[in-house]
Amino acid sequence: MVDVDGRKLLDLSMGFGAMLAGHLNPVVVEEAKVALEGGTLFVTPSPSARDASERICKRFGIDQVRFTNSGTEATMYAVRTAKAYSGKSAIVKIEGGYHGSYDPLTVSAKPDLKLAGPADAPYSVVRAGTNPGVVFVVPFNNLKALEKVFAEDHESIACFILEPVLENLGIVLPDAGYLQGVRDLCDRYGIILIFDEVKTGLTAGPQGAAHRIGVQPDLICLAKSIGGGLPLAAFGGKKEIMSAITDNRMAHFGTFNGNPLAMAGVRAMDKLCTVEALGKAEALNNQALTRISEIISEFQLPAHTVGFGVKGCVTWSKDPVRNYRDYKATDFQVAELSWLWSLNRGIITPPGLDEQWLISLAHTQAEIDILVNDFRSLAVALRS
Ligand SMILES: Cc1ncc(COP(=O)(O)O)c(C=O)c1O
Repeated sequence: MVDVDGRKLLDLSMGFGAMLAGHLNPVVVEEAKVALEGGTLFVTPSPSARDASERICKRFGIDQVRFTNSGTEATMYAVRTAKAYSGKSAIVKIEGGYHGSYDPLTVSAKPDLKLAGPADAPYSVVRAGTNPGVVFVVPFNNLKALEKVFAEDHESIACFILEPVLENLGIVLPDAGYLQGVRDLCDRYGIILIFDEVKTGLTAGPQGAAHRIGVQPDLICLAKSIGGGLPLAAFGGKKEIMSAITDNRMAHFGTFNGNPLAMAGVRAMDKLCTVEALGKAEALNNQALTRISEIISEFQLPAHTVGFGVKGCVTWSKDPVRNYRDYKATDFQVAELSWLWSLNRGIITPPGLDEQWLISLAHTQAEIDILVNDFRSLAVALRS
């Protein structure tokens, strides 16, 4: 990137993960050009939308998919579909979990701990100006707390929505067996399971996080990386549940849904995101994580690295972060210092301390060396 002062920056933010292909990737540019020349909006079903749908269904192993323009719409429509299909209206979400701006999903998205109640039975913290309905909030990686909510209220609960790997609190990995436990509880209590893969998606691997972890949700939300940097999102899943849209119980409309330019983005990303290409980027990411971990040990810094797929972060605590409360106990002052340190030295990572870097298909060994050497210089400064 070049900023307004003409300063060259190494971009590791990559559009919050949407720029997985890299900026101006020739395949994305070429597909987009073809779409531009063919006309950008017809608001009818089209061969390009059919092509994109087939690619997404095949890749992510789902029966049906529908396109939207943002992750916010994708999570909103997935939740609405679950409500319409089940005839129930309450939902369950993770404390600290971010899923965009639909009213129910803003509940306890990074809440103030003063308002959040006990860690194992958090309160639902409602944002001013929203009208969320009934939203239960549970800690990530805690099956006991989830089972309690399900046991008491399953008759009113339509769905449970979560990121399979939390990527809005740095990176928080699910404990071994947690997601399978979630799947089993949803099945036992008749609750629809929605995975928000807006951030994981193709950055988690060629078929997303659900496939990688081996737990299939009922509905999935996709955005960011699947569109090659064009405004695009999608939701889909089991045909039976998606039937709530086709039989008109839930209305899904939108002028720009499935427009040819966005469909060109899907087509390009599907061509680009081969096992080999993503594997190469992941290997570079793993190398960065290993080398930075070694620096953390060498300088005995109170930090650790976490990675998933092509994403990584440094979390400023000695202990692993398993949920929102652990995350809130990390050192935000050093995290901010680290962000500014890199920015002042020509590396831009996402401007929220809760984000992570992305090693795109365009990054190479040279960029990994810049990232690692920058972290070493920070470690030296912190210890001097
Ligand atoms: C997990 C998750 N879900 C949904 C959204 C909302 O996506 P959008 O910004 O495209 O509305 C985001 C945005 O960062 C996200 O991280």
